[in-house]
Amino acid sequence: MTNLWGSRMEKGLDQEVKEFSTSIPEDFFLYKYDLWGSAAHCKMLEKVGIISEKESKEILRGLRVIFQEIEEGKVDPSPFEDIHSLVEIRLREIAGEKIGGKLHTARSRNDQVVLDERLFLREKIGEVIEKISFLQEALLRKAQENKDVVMPGYTHLQPAQPVLFAHHLLAYFFMFQRDIERLEDTRKRVNVLPLGAGALSGTSLPIDRQYVAELLAFPRVQENSMDAVSDRDFILEFLGGLSILFLHLSRWGEEIVLWSSPAFHFLEIDDAFTTGSSIMPQKKNPDVAELLRGKTGEVLSSWVSLAITLKGLPLTYNRDLQQDKPPLFRATKETLSSLRIAARLTQNIFPDRESMKKALSVGFLTATDLCEYLVGQGVPFRRAHAWVGEMVKKLSASGKHLRDLKKEDWGEYQHLFPENWEEIIDEEKSVRRKISEGSTSPREVEREIKIGEELLAQSRERVSSWRKIEQESWENLMGGSCVL
Ligand code: ARG
Repeated sequence: MTNLWGSRMEKGLDQEVKEFSTSIPEDFFLYKYDLWGSAAHCKMLEKVGIISEKESKEILRGLRVIFQEIEEGKVDPSPFEDIHSLVEIRLREIAGEKIGGKLHTARSRNDQVVLDERLFLREKIGEVIEKISFLQEALLRKAQENKDVVMPGYTHLQPAQPVLFAHHLLAYFFMFQRDIERLEDTRKRVNVLPLGAGALSGTSLPIDRQYVAELLAFPRVQENSMDAVSDRDFILEFLGGLSILFLHLSRWGEEIVLWSSPAFHFLEIDDAFTTGSSIMPQKKNPDVAELLRGKTGEVLSSWVSLAITLKGLPLTYNRDLQQDKPPLFRATKETLSSLRIAARLTQNIFPDRESMKKALSVGFLTATDLCEYLVGQGVPFRRAHAWVGEMVKKLSASGKHLRDLKKEDWGEYQHLFPENWEEIIDEEKSVRRKISEGSTSPREVEREIKIGEELLAQSRERVSSWRKIEQESWENLMGGSCVL
């Protein structure tokens, strides 16, 4: 027997329908969470007197045995309809029908599946945040190691103003910080107990949902049983968070692709992180960065896939909801491995100071500095802007640089021509002159690094405190440790 139902049917399930409807290939990964939640449910049934202490002990023992069996690869999941059926049927074999058959009292697979997913996600959010923090750390270290490197900053991919390479890297640090914050916020809505909703309407049996919440370390229970079994918003939010994270990864990947191209040559990627061409012997390709960009589609489509599943679904549980697992699992797996490699790639890029310096002399990067100098001398900004624009037009027509401007060329502003003219338009000095908060000046970048260090420590501390709480709940219920 591999189903949890069937007595009301005249016939067994059609083989093709069985294959079509099974979710075991997609939900087997939830076994740990299914056992964990089942153990809490069992303890609660004991507390409220639905099962005896002896029965509870037998069930808990059975659940632990199943965990061992699965971990050791001794269970063939293929005949089962889903992970919940596998666990219950195996439990009834181990603990006997009389005792094992009591576990599913006051519970439905509808509230069970969503509990499993919440336990899974709660843990994975911690892992994703930790992995993001490794990438952030790589960015922070690169910024620290190259604090004095100046490069052209771009808008429209046209040379705009000089910036510190470290400032550019730290822009990504703060981008990824928002991803962490989004996931932390999502975790609040993941961390809610759905169990006890039953199939959809609750139960007439005297269950204690608060106690289950306490055992599983959920700060609160979901208020409405119909909402509890049909809600997948928390997964959608998570996938939305991963999608934005991947948009960021794809942008970072793109910078590396551009910067490592000989057209820029702003950085060199360590050979171990590049690939060659099967025909062009000279090639050194940034495939890892390209793949970070390329995998974005898969993660974004996981959000779209679930959103389409949810659109227009009537309350409450519908079998469509089974399709929430492939996108959830796929996107989580992709994200964890991509973040890992993104951190390592970031450690293995090395700026080419010379190329950056050369690029600084192209594109009149300090034209705005010249405007700001004139503003300091009392010239209205708009006039300064127009005047410098004229100068640039003349200089670029004759292939010259700002540096080539002489006092005589200053026309109406000759009296303002500064002694330290070279300094004003010096690209390296330009960054040092910035004083606004959050600017690219070395002082501000130093401050960003300090804030970055603090944020890193805070994220890690939060993740480890969550982990401790989750670990304690697991150990209490399942005995022995399970590396979370
Ligand atoms: N495999 C199902 C899923 O993933 C579990 C819930 C089944 N519930 C039901 N009423 N058939 O959604």
